[in-house]
Amino acid sequence: MRTPVGIVGAGPAGLMLSHLLHRQGIDSVIVETRTRDAIEATIRAGVLEQGTVDLMVATGVGERLQREGFPHHGFELRVDGVGHRIDLHGLTGGRHVTVYPQHEVLKDLIAARLADGARIVFGASDVSLHDVEAAPKIRFTDAEGRSQVLDCDLVAGCDGSHGICRQAIPESVRREYLRIYPFGWFGILAEAPPSAEELIYARSERGFALISTRSPTVQRMYFQCDPNDRVDNWSDDRIWSELQARVKGDGFALREGAIFQKGIIPMRSFVCEPMQHGRLFIAGDAAHTVPPTGAKGLNLAVADVVVLARAVADLIQRNDAAGVEAYSATAVRRVWRAQHFSWWFTAMMHRFDEVGPFDARRQRAELDMILQSPTAARLLAENYVGQPLT
Ligand code: FAD
Ligand code: DHB
Repeated sequence: MRTPVGIVGAGPAGLMLSHLLHRQGIDSVIVETRTRDAIEATIRAGVLEQGTVDLMVATGVGERLQREGFPHHGFELRVDGVGHRIDLHGLTGGRHVTVYPQHEVLKDLIAARLADGARIVFGASDVSLHDVEAAPKIRFTDAEGRSQVLDCDLVAGCDGSHGICRQAIPESVRREYLRIYPFGWFGILAEAPPSAEELIYARSERGFALISTRSPTVQRMYFQCDPNDRVDNWSDDRIWSELQARVKGDGFALREGAIFQKGIIPMRSFVCEPMQHGRLFIAGDAAHTVPPTGAKGLNLAVADVVVLARAVADLIQRNDAAGVEAYSATAVRRVWRAQHFSWWFTAMMHRFDEVGPFDARRQRAELDMILQSPTAARLLAENYVGQPLT
């Protein structure tokens, strides 16, 4: 098999890249280890920046998103039981975010890619990269057990934080920046009506909680937990009483229901630079991870591949290599902005057991600054809705 662009991974980065390349008349093949059913059933992100929504609509994959997504013009910052609205619309000159789950984005992208005749190899195993400096190849075993070699002009490593592509950048040129947080998020899906019209980011003495939504009948919630805790330690009753304790105040209480999914998510900040080597370009979680507090991960994956798709088109169609040569330098500026924001919002909203009383009071003062100063609130709002895609 031969393709101009071999893509490893059918997550948001890989699928959107393949879709954007197709719209510029460039063919690609995606090699993915999981099955289509598994991909379409994995619960992850929920919040899309306006730039991501606008891109999906403008490139013909936003029809269901426009029909079924929920625009959110603000969110609540709840501090020690008192709610304060962050008016995203007012603070950013009319911008907002949209709640539309990641697996729905993936369903829309996969359906569009297959309708456009794309080759997506689901259920591949033993995926490996070779000769990325001169004549890249992706070797894999297909779902029928046959060994395959895909010869490519370029390879896009879109295989997420546990993928193999990043390791194909030699250690001598690869720099990795990592921060591991001393907590994780316990995430649930529950059959319940929404407890509020907008998302709630809550800081309490007991730690952080996030009240999000999926639909009028399914709610998504998270609370800060010990990253080494086990799901089995948490009965439904214990989960609800912990969540209630973290948001209570103002007479507010969550509307409870049957919990049908539970999981613990580790929290880390990570960047790999450069995001390219030879003819290999890495994008999305393969190159960087953010803690989920700022809801940036999926959006950042999309922003990377917007830069990459344009650069690849310039190279293949106009023989202009300037874009691909500058890919990492261009993409990484936005990555570090999002890293800073995600770290800042995380640091402001979580309970850090190891800090002393000075830092606890300083953290509260920082929140008070957001609550009292429209200038500070605007900084939060502008970062949350995200920079426009260039
Ligand atoms: P992935 O989605 O990880 O996709 C990588 C793909 O590559 C996968 O399908 C994987 O199976 C495949 N793969 C892996 N290894 C190989 C291999 N060797 N060969 C072939 N294929 C391989 N982001 C937001 O923007 N907003 C949010 O609200 C938000 N909330 C989140 C909540 C949670 C609980 C979590 C966990 C994440 C959240 N994120 C959020 C982050 C977001 O989900 C990720 O940043 C996003 O999935 C990154 O997309 P990606 O395509 O780079 O990687
Ligand atoms: C969701 C996840 C986030 O990380 C976030 O900041 C907001 C919403 C969600 O899954 O709905």
